[in-house]
Amino acid sequence: MRSVVLVTGGAGFIGSHVVDRLIAAGHEPRIFDQRPSPWHDPKDVQTIIGDLRRVEDLRRALRGCDAICHLAAAADVGEVHAHPHWATELNGGGTLNVLEAAREAGVQRVVYASTVWVYSDVPAEEVDEATPLLPPAHLYTAGKLAGELYCRSYAELYGLKTTVVRFGIPYGPRARPAAVIPSFVDRALRGEPLTIAGTGEQERSFVYVEDLADGVVRALAPQAVGKTYNLATRETTTIRELAEIVRDTVGAVDIVHTDGRAGDLRGARIDSTRAEDELGWRAHTHLRDGIAAYVAWLREQPGTSVAAPTSAPAEHRRLARVARAGLGNPAGVGIVALIAVASATIAVILGARQDAQAADFTALGSAILVPLWALTVVPWPPEHRRHQVATTTLLAVLGVVLLGLLSSASGGGGVHPMRIALAVALSACLTSAFRILPRRLAALRPNA
Ligand SMILES: NC(=O)c1ccc[n+]([C@@H]2O[C@H](COP(=O)([O-])OP(=O)(O)OC[C@H]3O[C@@H](n4cnc5c(N)ncnc54)[C@H](O)[C@@H]3O)[C@@H](O)[C@H]2O)c1
Repeated sequence: MRSVVLVTGGAGFIGSHVVDRLIAAGHEPRIFDQRPSPWHDPKDVQTIIGDLRRVEDLRRALRGCDAICHLAAAADVGEVHAHPHWATELNGGGTLNVLEAAREAGVQRVVYASTVWVYSDVPAEEVDEATPLLPPAHLYTAGKLAGELYCRSYAELYGLKTTVVRFGIPYGPRARPAAVIPSFVDRALRGEPLTIAGTGEQERSFVYVEDLADGVVRALAPQAVGKTYNLATRETTTIRELAEIVRDTVGAVDIVHTDGRAGDLRGARIDSTRAEDELGWRAHTHLRDGIAAYVAWLREQPGTSVAAPTSAPAEHRRLARVARAGLGNPAGVGIVALIAVASATIAVILGARQDAQAADFTALGSAILVPLWALTVVPWPPEHRRHQVATTTLLAVLGVVLLGLLSSASGGGGVHPMRIALAVALSACLTSAFRILPRRLAALRPNA
């Protein structure tokens, strides 16, 4: 039967594949995400832009829906570590909002995307859905587990038909670049060494993303109600083996080891027999084949250094997309801003007629560069990154204009010492502010 299925996080890596899989299975997916999908045109797939943290957005999105696949989350473990309140709001509170909105709207069916990280504190060699869990060490796991518990409570208290799917480590086309396989492949493509945290003996169960998406859609089946399923593969791989597969697929690069990460996922074997028996699901794609498919997809993507030559209009579109992506990245904008101000400083120093004037310009240039540096290296909370980019751009433009004006206005003489002192004091205040502000912004979030 054709169902209208809301996919929260449908613009994301796994969610976008769930959208594809739903279409292939004859359903009508509807994307709910905080950003437009880079993978689906709203003309083809109805898209609702909204915030998981606002129940009213979810209520609006749920009108006319038969089911929900809930994947929106703070899925990057590093970001969870950096912004714990924001991540908990999304992964715990956001899931609660989805369940509450579903209850209010009378949408009975909810499939919740969890993770095999829930087993990371269990001291067992092999785990399945019946394995008792221990309180998790990592905040990401705590948030995802909270979501699982809310699903159970809503099923018990309000009769909601929930299913939990615990994903193995996904990889494949559209993967976030920070994940292990994309970053290995990226480094290998650049000819850089592959870095392994720790010994590399930790085992992982990598699942090709299209297999996972298939599992999510199968989990909408009536027999899955009230159940939890591992969606992992029997094929476990050590990080060391993974690095070797990437090296074999992409090209010869060195493999180097660094210190292990705190709270890293333990490598128990994940049993997915229940999903096989009850849903007919299997992760069909072998790691080597999946990595080869990922590399092939990556080579077709704009901005990949090894991409095949493209036609001129396609090249223009590619450059526009790369530029747009760069402009949204605070670190990238910060580096460009630092280069621009440093170049302007060097230019005015070289144009100085006296040593004293050159010294003044050096002081002024440094007074602009130091707060710009603080803006570039201290990450702002994700929802304020646009403000970080705008502040960086503004400071850089003001800095370059100011240096130009001072250089032409001061003729052969130096800058008044009071002005230099004022600039240095202002620089110190701005630098402190740009170091403290991101933390304050994170703390000011509702419920923080
Ligand atoms: N990627 C992994 O390694 C992994 C492993 C196991 C489980 N999971 C789970 O799978 C799900 C999908 O992960 P992914 O890798 O596709 O992540 P992703 O980051 O690619 O996608 C998450 C999506 O959620 C959206 N989102 C974030 N905050 C939102 C908000 N406030 N309101 C609306 N939308 C919001 C994002 O814009 C993004 O499109 C998550 O629930 C994650 O916890 C991921």
